[in-house]
Amino acid sequence: MSDLLKVTINGQETEVPRGSTIMDAANQLNIEIPHFCYHPRLSIAGNCRMCLVEVEGAPKPVASCSWPAADGMIVNTQSELTKEAQKGTMELLLINHPLDCPICDQAGECTLQDLSVSYGSDQTRFTEMKRAVEDKDIGSKIKTVMTRCIHCTRCVRFATEIAGVEEFGAVFRGENTKIGTYVEHALQSELAGNMIDLCPVGALTNKPYAFTARPWELSRTNSIDVMHTEGANIKIESRFGKVMRVEPNVNDDINEEWIADTTRFMWDALNTNRLDSPMVKGRSTSWPKAFDAVKKALKGVKKEKIGGILGKTQSLEDAYSFNAFMKDVVGTNNVDCRIEGSSLPFKKPAHFIMNTPIAKLEDADAVLLIGCNPRLEAPLVNLRLRKAVNNGAEVAVIGMDENLTYASTHLGDTPEVLEEIASGKHKFAKTLAKAKNPVIIVGEAAALRRGDATAIMKCVADIVDANNIVNDDWNGFNVLHQHVGALSGLMVECTPTDGGKDTQSMLKSAEAGDLDVLFVYGDVDLSADAIKKTKNIIYIGTHKTEVAKTAAVAMPVAAFSEKTALWINAEGRTQEGLQAVALPLNAKEDWKVFRALSGEMGKALPFDTRDQLRERIFSTTPAYSKIGENPQYKWFKLSGSGKLTKKKFTQPVAAFYLNNALLQESATMHACQTETAGTKNNLLRASA
Ligand code: SF4
Ligand code: SF4
Ligand code: FES
Repeated sequence: MSDLLKVTINGQETEVPRGSTIMDAANQLNIEIPHFCYHPRLSIAGNCRMCLVEVEGAPKPVASCSWPAADGMIVNTQSELTKEAQKGTMELLLINHPLDCPICDQAGECTLQDLSVSYGSDQTRFTEMKRAVEDKDIGSKIKTVMTRCIHCTRCVRFATEIAGVEEFGAVFRGENTKIGTYVEHALQSELAGNMIDLCPVGALTNKPYAFTARPWELSRTNSIDVMHTEGANIKIESRFGKVMRVEPNVNDDINEEWIADTTRFMWDALNTNRLDSPMVKGRSTSWPKAFDAVKKALKGVKKEKIGGILGKTQSLEDAYSFNAFMKDVVGTNNVDCRIEGSSLPFKKPAHFIMNTPIAKLEDADAVLLIGCNPRLEAPLVNLRLRKAVNNGAEVAVIGMDENLTYASTHLGDTPEVLEEIASGKHKFAKTLAKAKNPVIIVGEAAALRRGDATAIMKCVADIVDANNIVNDDWNGFNVLHQHVGALSGLMVECTPTDGGKDTQSMLKSAEAGDLDVLFVYGDVDLSADAIKKTKNIIYIGTHKTEVAKTAAVAMPVAAFSEKTALWINAEGRTQEGLQAVALPLNAKEDWKVFRALSGEMGKALPFDTRDQLRERIFSTTPAYSKIGENPQYKWFKLSGSGKLTKKKFTQPVAAFYLNNALLQESATMHACQTETAGTKNNLLRASA
């Protein structure tokens, strides 16, 4: 029996694998069948009946999204019977639908609106009163107008199947069916915003965006998310030079079509409290005067009394130009990209990135999480792990026992259990040993910022060696970072050299008043109080933070939406994000500031254009020039030393919605954090 079925649709023949539906065959032939409830990434519901088509020999039209294709089947999506059936469905759907289009945020990108024009009627036979449904308050992310709901259940299936949180569902039956959170509460899922994209009507819309713009007014620019390290592909939608909203782009290797709520809803931060002109001692000034003030601050200061810290959302070009400026122009070795980060001397990319491609995590059959909460640290990595569990993978956790949205076994909250696994005595060692695609994920934040980080790495190295975790076909060793800036910095070695101070030592010196000049670049969420004893703080950033206000010199640069730049993701993949909007007032692109300042200081950095800067970066590591590709860095044997302590692993993310300085500028993110922390149904447990 052949595994391929021959199906003819509208006279065109195609072959589809056994188990496919008529909709799959039509998609293969690029034949459009109207639909609402069908979605290729969700289970089949078959409840809207919009996809009815005529099948030869069938007594009545069939729902093509759920009807299995059969060998020799002949389908007609254009026949009178099909058209009548689809028109009938549309008529029924519109019985209770409000005439809201002029005041509906979905208008212009509404599937119901589009399909009713193409497949509906211009008349109705129903004159009865329309049904009305009360709106639900489900938090700061999603606005509901439930009278518009057509009960397609896409949102419910997304919550249960993809996000793994059963907080959305349908109650009652027939005409009384209502979609909601059962007991009204703010949505807790960190991925809830994706329901807005899935909802084919204006029942669930983007709350902070409500009534601010129409989709046809927006310009769309492809960019890369910098709130998490997966590097989700996004489009920044803007109007009149202002970011209006952020939506996902499809990339099956990284984010499929999902993004985290931090990515989707943080955009108000880009439009508020911006530093738009250079400042000297809190007063606006010109660029030449700001440069003079920097030169004055540095004059006569010993190099070891100068430090520089790179922020959490900086690009590859930012990290490279800052590092070159600090080391070659200012001449100090005290430079670090690991704000709050590990002080391990990461030198080889394979030792600090995720070697398992994000999409391949779905194939893992045994996963060991060490001091890592992927749900909070990298929500899209967590989705892949959830898929792996659905495919039969076993997940074990060493660290805090959290709700990861899938079944996991908690092995302990201190690192000692690693020794048992390394020696093969632990039960999970057997699971790892027999796994075909074993995966270890070490959380940089909770596992490698500890005093015994090297001892943890030694145990991990032993586990890797004993269990065939790295071989020619599979590399299951992964370190998960939280901040894009740290990855960019590590890639260009923006770390201390020749006994220079790391971030923690610089901050200690700053607190003690031992630093004369501290460069704070990008979103470094430092308290101004902690570094107030430093003689001169030079702030280079996007917002008027407390540090910017107290700095001797503050210089405005571009936010991620305002520059064309390369971003490194968790896998070490280079991706390019494009400039969506202009920089505010007198702000300049980051690398241009370092280049201009270096010229003023008499040691011009050797690049005058972005292309020249990129050439320099690519000449040291050609892998970075393969934009969009997964680089698969060369593997070197892991090592470590020292003794494990009994110290418990801590929570790696203190506040999910406020995990960098940029997020902290967003009113929406503050509201989300409050809703998350304030409810009993606290699925995130981020700041409980
Ligand atoms: Fe119009 Fe669509 Fe809004 Fe309904 S959901 S009111 S059809 S734009
Ligand atoms: Fe479908 Fe939207 Fe209603 Fe959910 S709220 S069932 S996605 S129409
Ligand atoms: Fe087929 Fe809804 S798309 S029944």
